[in-house]
Amino acid sequence: MPKTVKDIIQMKSNEKITVLTGYDSTMTTLCDNVDVILVGDSAGMVMLGYDDTRDVTMEDMIRFTTAVKNAKTDSLIVTDLPINSYETEDSAITNSKRLVQAGAHAVKLEGGKEVASIIKALVDSDIPVMGHLGLLPQTAEKYSVQAKKSEDAVALIEDAKILQEAGVFSIVLEMVTRDVTEIITKMVKVPTIGIGSGIDCDGQVLVVHDMLGMFEKIKPKFAKRYLNLSEEIRNAVNSYVNDVKEKRFPENDHTFSMEKDELEKLEKEIV
Ligand code: KIV
Repeated sequence: MPKTVKDIIQMKSNEKITVLTGYDSTMTTLCDNVDVILVGDSAGMVMLGYDDTRDVTMEDMIRFTTAVKNAKTDSLIVTDLPINSYETEDSAITNSKRLVQAGAHAVKLEGGKEVASIIKALVDSDIPVMGHLGLLPQTAEKYSVQAKKSEDAVALIEDAKILQEAGVFSIVLEMVTRDVTEIITKMVKVPTIGIGSGIDCDGQVLVVHDMLGMFEKIKPKFAKRYLNLSEEIRNAVNSYVNDVKEKRFPENDHTFSMEKDELEKLEKEIV
């Protein structure tokens, strides 16, 4: 059964929520037992080769969302609104509708009290919203742990309350100290989804390229690598290159031939 926003909310305190990023059909098909596929704007880094998420456009996110939808996954599809696509209530609604049209069941956007009215406008337009607090890659000057100081923690806790009141159905907490994550998770009724924020969240999200050990540019401490796929891919590519150079590939099994009588006919025709 396809997962719904309601299912995800009900999982709080009952069962941990699993989230992986997805940007294409093949990988999404392989990740079909996670609860949520996040079409994250991390696509800018892992798919498009940018240094950060700031060059990602609406057109990029529509294309990635379409590819994920085409996997016919049962996971809930949540797509990031890219930077500059939700500056006003009108632009947020118009752009979110484009993402929903492409296959998203919900959208995610970054920020606290400054985006509360945008979130409320989206929810009032029947577009489910996932919030994102802590490290905000679209605007952060550097990637660092959030809420280490009590005054920062107080502001973050306040933002979580405001997001809940605005109507989010869950909140991503990125690189937030474990202590503050635990406080927020106990305080809000909606699930918290952590990335680099410790075990106490209601769910966890990782960038699939990090988790599979495919992305070599940045290796965050929090991103457990379940495979070393970059090494496996390099080895496979080396074997392919050597096989072609040494004429070991293709073998008969990879080759199509004419029937003998057709070949004889052809040979007579071309002499
Ligand atoms: O873009 C993304 O992949 C994200 C996750 C890191 C939460 O927002």
